Amino acid sequence: MNPLAESLNATISAEAPHMFEMLSELGKRFYFPSKGILSQSAEAKKKATRFNATIGTALEDGVAMHLDCLMEQLPGISADNALLYASSPGNQKLREAWQAKDLKDNPDLAGKPCSLPVVTGGLSHALSLIADLIVDPGDLFLYPDKNWGNYRLNFVERKGAEPKLFQFFKGNGFNIEAFRQALDECAAAGRKKVIVLLNFPNNPTGYSPTDAENSAIAQALKDTADKGVNLAVIVDDAYYGLFFKPEVTRQSLFTKLAGLHPRILAFKADAATKEVYVWGLRVGFVSFSIGGVKADSPVFEAVNAKMGGIIRSVVSNCSALSQFLVLNALKSPDFFKQRAAKAEVMRQRALKVEEALQNPEYAQAWEVYPFNSGYFMCLKIKKINASDLRIHLLDKYGIGTIAINDTDLRIAFSCIEAEDVNELFRLIFQGWKDLA
Ligand SMILES: Cc1ncc(COP(=O)(O)O)c(C=O)c1O
Repeated sequence: MNPLAESLNATISAEAPHMFEMLSELGKRFYFPSKGILSQSAEAKKKATRFNATIGTALEDGVAMHLDCLMEQLPGISADNALLYASSPGNQKLREAWQAKDLKDNPDLAGKPCSLPVVTGGLSHALSLIADLIVDPGDLFLYPDKNWGNYRLNFVERKGAEPKLFQFFKGNGFNIEAFRQALDECAAAGRKKVIVLLNFPNNPTGYSPTDAENSAIAQALKDTADKGVNLAVIVDDAYYGLFFKPEVTRQSLFTKLAGLHPRILAFKADAATKEVYVWGLRVGFVSFSIGGVKADSPVFEAVNAKMGGIIRSVVSNCSALSQFLVLNALKSPDFFKQRAAKAEVMRQRALKVEEALQNPEYAQAWEVYPFNSGYFMCLKIKKINASDLRIHLLDKYGIGTIAINDTDLRIAFSCIEAEDVNELFRLIFQGWKDLA
């Protein structure tokens, strides 16, 4: 093993032995190659006052070499800010600004042991980075039956984890009994490590828990950790902030898990993607917390160095221009106001959906899964197959929806103007009547 990896491993196992146990073989092997080109370049940046011939970029007249036909598209942005490389763990100022944003959004995180976020190429990349760090083939991966399809691709198909689903809903809320039972089954089966993934606001249903539900989830995890099971819990906050009902907790589940238990390694995977409305810019983040360590523990830097190394090996670093744009947006005094204004537009759409679904006729065609947040809502279609309905809606009415399985049809109301919502559901109902 590389001595740099050995040194990081020594720090991690001394500070947080259960976290070390949860690293994958790849995670254990990885390190940031700080003694090679990168450190020599950094040294030269400080000391090479005459000529700096270290970096694999091209300079001209002291700035990044560029084509005018490209830079003309970016008025007001310097070629250096737009074109030069970012570092593998990301633009330091952006990492700090995102951490400050997360703290403002989640005040209960204050004082809890938590890493500085690492920048990823969107949230999908954040999830794959976490998966590389902690998943070995055969590890148990527990997640809800209402989930985003990419989880399977990432954790099961790509990393070889063994999937285990629990039922997401019971009545109008989160199925805490099913979650607890699934964890109990893992413990009873002698599992020493379980990877858990929870996503709120949930894709595909648009459900977010109450504070009491979040506390119950955290308690179930803590009880399992008390039995000696190591838990790596990934909280996917992709749709964070789009909360439409007063009963929904405004803070991420991550706040309840941060620092909770030495056997609970909590990851917060979030992104500018949906929060800042920049889907194609590809800016995401990974932060993590582990119980039993101080807020300034060296474990945070050590694990971030491993993540930096994994990023370096796969994409080297993420778009500097995208990071620059998101950083400037975060620095704007109007950021929170503008974000809230867009969330209000989304809330109005969600309320329109709720109103449209009051139509008593619709009860013969579907049940509505609880929704109170995010981009989506789901219908549980009666009598006919959801895929058949999807195809019929497309072919006859020009309406696109997503069939999640045989019964569930996902509607992204996020991209439907409020005044079109009634018509959308009227036509979906018409389509259902055609087939039923
Ligand atoms: C629950 C959830 N997580 C993660 C993502 C991925 O986001 P990104 O586009 O930043 O990769 C999505 C995107 O649809 C999502 O729905």
